[in-house]
Amino acid sequence: MLGLGTLRRVVGEIRADVGAARDRDPAARGAGTFQILASWGGVQALLSHRVAHALHETDVPALPMALSYTSRAVTGIEIHPAARIGDDFFIDHGSGVVIGETAEIGDRVTLYQGVTLGGTGFARGKRHPTVGDNVTVGSGAKLLGPIEVGHGAKIGANTVVIQDVPPNSTVVGNPGHPVRIEGSKVEGPDTDWIHLPDPVADAIKGLSERIGELERQLAEARGGAPPEERVRELRPKRGPSSAGG
Ligand SMILES: CC(C)(COP(=O)(O)OP(=O)(O)OC[C@H]1O[C@@H](n2cnc3c(N)ncnc32)[C@H](O)[C@@H]1OP(=O)(O)O)[C@@H](O)C(=O)NCCC(=O)NCCS
Repeated sequence: MLGLGTLRRVVGEIRADVGAARDRDPAARGAGTFQILASWGGVQALLSHRVAHALHETDVPALPMALSYTSRAVTGIEIHPAARIGDDFFIDHGSGVVIGETAEIGDRVTLYQGVTLGGTGFARGKRHPTVGDNVTVGSGAKLLGPIEVGHGAKIGANTVVIQDVPPNSTVVGNPGHPVRIEGSKVEGPDTDWIHLPDPVADAIKGLSERIGELERQLAEARGGAPPEERVRELRPKRGPSSAGG
């Protein structure tokens, strides 16, 4: 059952979560603890989740889901009681955030409104993202499936992430792709439109080589010299790369 140790742990987590709101939301800088607890939806949802998760861990039936449901009705933030959330977690603004059953979130993570840590498909087992420490997820971003988001990553607003995210990277777009890794720009897409593969030219070149070989063999069989006139070789395309411009 719920022991004194569990209660002490939950109180400690709540204190750290209120501190996280004060640190990361400029609007909360001057606010007192009671004010934050009373009017910051993200903090309320988290507070409720800390209790629901502790009850879920001690196998209390029904109550954890009832708490999660009530919290969603009040704050618009849905966190499954089984989801694992580290210290100093902060949901800014909050409404529309969904955190699935098997999601795992590290320490000092920030989510903005409309973020989904969701599953794909109907398979049971691990099906939600694992988010590392010090990760920031912009508003409206969707992180789907049992992917791993590396420590220190930033996910841009409205990004759809369906693959693992490297540590200390910035990922944007749909599908999400890194635009910065360890502070450096990622090599862009191949924009060399001049040297594109040309399968038709390749086929003609192959045929030309075979005709040349047949002519050589025929000339050898007749005892004469190979013909002077050869099939003109196709030249590879040349020109500056548009990527360099
Ligand atoms: C992703 C983010 C963290 C990047 O911030 P940053 O480290 O300062 O990086 P930059 O602004 O230099 O952007 C890097 C590149 O990604 C692009 N980019 C940034 N955010 C993007 C987004 N959400 N969607 C698509 N592209 C984005 C930029 O245009 C830039 O492209 P470029 O290198 O071709 O010029 C930031 O843009 C973001 O989306 N933050 C979320 C903020 C939020 O949700 N606020 C809600 C408040 S209520």
